[in-house]
Amino acid sequence: MAERPSENDGSGGAASLAALSDLDALRDYIGDCHRCPLGDTRTTLVFGVGDPTARLMFVGEAPGRNEDLKGEPFVGAAGTLLDELLASIGLVRSEVYIANVLKCRPPGNRDPLSDEMASCTPFLAQQVRLIDPTVIATLGNWATKYMLGTERGITGLRGRLFRVNGRQIVPIFHPAAALYDRTKRDVLFEDFRRLRSVLDGSLESAEARLPSAHVPGSWRMQTSGEAADTEHDADTTAADADAGQQTLF
Ligand code: URA
Repeated sequence: MAERPSENDGSGGAASLAALSDLDALRDYIGDCHRCPLGDTRTTLVFGVGDPTARLMFVGEAPGRNEDLKGEPFVGAAGTLLDELLASIGLVRSEVYIANVLKCRPPGNRDPLSDEMASCTPFLAQQVRLIDPTVIATLGNWATKYMLGTERGITGLRGRLFRVNGRQIVPIFHPAAALYDRTKRDVLFEDFRRLRSVLDGSLESAEARLPSAHVPGSWRMQTSGEAADTEHDADTTAADADAGQQTLF
């Protein structure tokens, strides 16, 4: 089995990762990755695609079967819906950047494991630093949990606007969740209209509000810490609130 160096061991590895100056160098650095066991089961490492200077970045969960075969994020049915959603706000894939929390497919599309997240997310963090988007749309639970440093689920976070390290974070349902659910599909299109408003700068103010048919309350600007403590879900803990304040990228 291949050696698995850690990015998070406090050694020089993390420092050299942060020093990488472009996406090609980052891709080279990641190499034929076996830092976690997913390296042994994947077909293709899915790095990310799009405009390396995009203002808008999407972060999904992990490659699925089609992505694993093709080496590109969101090329299956969820990707087709993502393309439709982009078109609905006048965008095409090449104008944004798309990446995932994990770069390799978990067998059977199971949820990411914490060791896999720990090995892989430093690469996503560096991708964010290099692309330097002003807006990040997190697709589904795992991307939202990582970007906001919360344990709260997407259902309670979508429809809100967060700011982390000067970037606007827009949590959105994962397109795969909407493939067979008309209600979620409608919510997704509505959230993309809101995303367009964020990009257009019309929701820059913390007081900015848009009415929503689906979310009681409104579209609100919040700090990431609020992701954990504004409502009282069973899965919300004080630790989540602390995690929400940490610097992720
Ligand atoms: N789902 C994801 O989260 N990412 C992909 O790339 C494909 C499906």
